[in-house]
Amino acid sequence: MKTLVAYYSQTGNTEKVARAIYEEASRDHEAYLEKIEDITADTLNEYDLVFLGSACHSSDLATPVKEVLDAISDSPKFKLAGFFTHATSSGGFNKWASKCVLSFQEASRVKKITFIGYYNCQGVPAPLIQEFIKSEVFGDSLADWEGYFEEVRKHPSLEDLQKAREFARRTISHA
Ligand SMILES: Cc1cc2nc3c(=O)[nH]c(=O)nc-3n(C[C@H](O)[C@H](O)[C@H](O)COP(=O)(O)O)c2cc1C
Repeated sequence: MKTLVAYYSQTGNTEKVARAIYEEASRDHEAYLEKIEDITADTLNEYDLVFLGSACHSSDLATPVKEVLDAISDSPKFKLAGFFTHATSSGGFNKWASKCVLSFQEASRVKKITFIGYYNCQGVPAPLIQEFIKSEVFGDSLADWEGYFEEVRKHPSLEDLQKAREFARRTISHA
């Protein structure tokens, strides 16, 4: 099975997850790893299975990933799996990251793509975003912010990457 792992990553978190998925896919299959900037929607048609990954921006998949999803032609031959990293703690996921899931699901429905599933984990936010989260999400409650940041700064963790590998294995066995 010819597999592509394509991803958008601004600060490296999603790239770590992409590499873990790629390493797992490479074990028994012909697998390729590409940045989203280096492919087009047409590129995806060369593969049987595509893992498409994104950093979460503005509660949704990043624009370059949405553009590729939008440009996929109807009923492609490849199957799709998604992954993304985000900076929410558990209570904030619905508000700040769940559109990523909806965007994968909606594109798959509209384009009649076989969507196998998705993986997500936290990724430490870049300094500018830290300031935004501190004021907008925690309202400058320092203790809550510190508790949140102490946790999120460890991600993606080795456990997250192991789970990404397991996701890749499960996905490949269903594809
Ligand atoms: C411009 C920008 C907007 C972001 N918006 C969100 C957001 O709405 N929700 C969220 O959970 N994380 C948000 N984040 C945090 C990133 O999704 C998170 O840190 C992710 O792991 C970054 O992945 P990367 O290192 O692959 O770029 C944002 C980050 C940036 C830079």
